[in-house]
Amino acid sequence: MREPLYDGHGRRISDLRVSVTDRCNFRCQYCMPAEGLPWLQRDEVLSFEEIERLVRLLAEMGITDLRLTGGEPLVRREFPKLAGMLARIEGLEDISLTTNGYLLERDAAALVEAGIQRVNVSIDSLQRDRFFQMTRRDSLPQVLRGLEALGRHPEVHPIKVNAVAMRGFTEQEALPFAEFARSTAYQVRFIEFMPLDGDHNWSPDAVLTGDELRRIIHAVHPLEERPREPSATARVFRFLDGGGEIGFINPVSEPFCDDCNRIRLTAEGKLRTCLFSVGETDLREPLRSGASDSEIELIVRDAVWRKELKHRVNEPGFRQPARTMSAIGG
Ligand code: 5AD
Ligand code: SF4
Repeated sequence: MREPLYDGHGRRISDLRVSVTDRCNFRCQYCMPAEGLPWLQRDEVLSFEEIERLVRLLAEMGITDLRLTGGEPLVRREFPKLAGMLARIEGLEDISLTTNGYLLERDAAALVEAGIQRVNVSIDSLQRDRFFQMTRRDSLPQVLRGLEALGRHPEVHPIKVNAVAMRGFTEQEALPFAEFARSTAYQVRFIEFMPLDGDHNWSPDAVLTGDELRRIIHAVHPLEERPREPSATARVFRFLDGGGEIGFINPVSEPFCDDCNRIRLTAEGKLRTCLFSVGETDLREPLRSGASDSEIELIVRDAVWRKELKHRVNEPGFRQPARTMSAIGG
């Protein structure tokens, strides 16, 4: 074991998100431009062995929670094999996946076999034409089949459904998703739209806040808040008449930076200490030029020590990072 990983603000870092590819088969409005982005070349992307080495080193420094993301992680060839390699790393307690669900019907069994414990599936509308409008892919039926395929594996728990909340769109989704949360075992979460979109259409006005959505739902299905767990990003409410719960992730209207315990690794091996970081730290070059684990550990500690106190999305002069969500990893 190595010393635990702390930032300069006294936060203990225990959560790592690894983007395994920058590619995606969807083109969500809030993430990628319709025409896609210039993808990384194959040799620019970390190999399975390189990812495994970094995750093992970080686990030795006290990372216990690992989330695998993209782009769309399931478009990376042999992704379940990578998940299996990472699941065997000592010290990791929780291994989860964020996916758009398109390939879940194909991969659900292999992912469970590999050791994935929790899955978040992005679904922004339960209506086919509106899903198409948001993701630019007419794939709702395919995604729902993937969700069902996953639901047949009780080892995966919980299964969350995440919807990005955009003004002018998601107001109409609030009640259908509330009904969905009440009638299925899936945990539904709304996520406020953040300035990480390829089209640079984000503006403060485009954010539909969690509180607005909560009021729309509460008027029909009264809600009661659950106690918030440490470092949890969602405010979770239960329906007063029983029947499930619904959550709101409000990074814009109610930032939760104070107890942020996360860092991120991009597909090409850059360490990012905040979604909105302007700078990042390259780990690929040291990896490929023969650095020892202890040398890489020092580079990581130095970068993490400088982790941003908080994001400045709500401050004048905020500049959107060059990377989109797909190139960071959600
Ligand atoms: N704002 C908020 N959430 C976003 N996601 C992608 N882009 C944005 C954005 N601009 C979410 C999607 C996906 C996850 C990876 O990140 O819901 O589930
Ligand atoms: Fe792909 Fe996810 Fe971005 Fe949508 S949000 S384009 S599914 S990476």
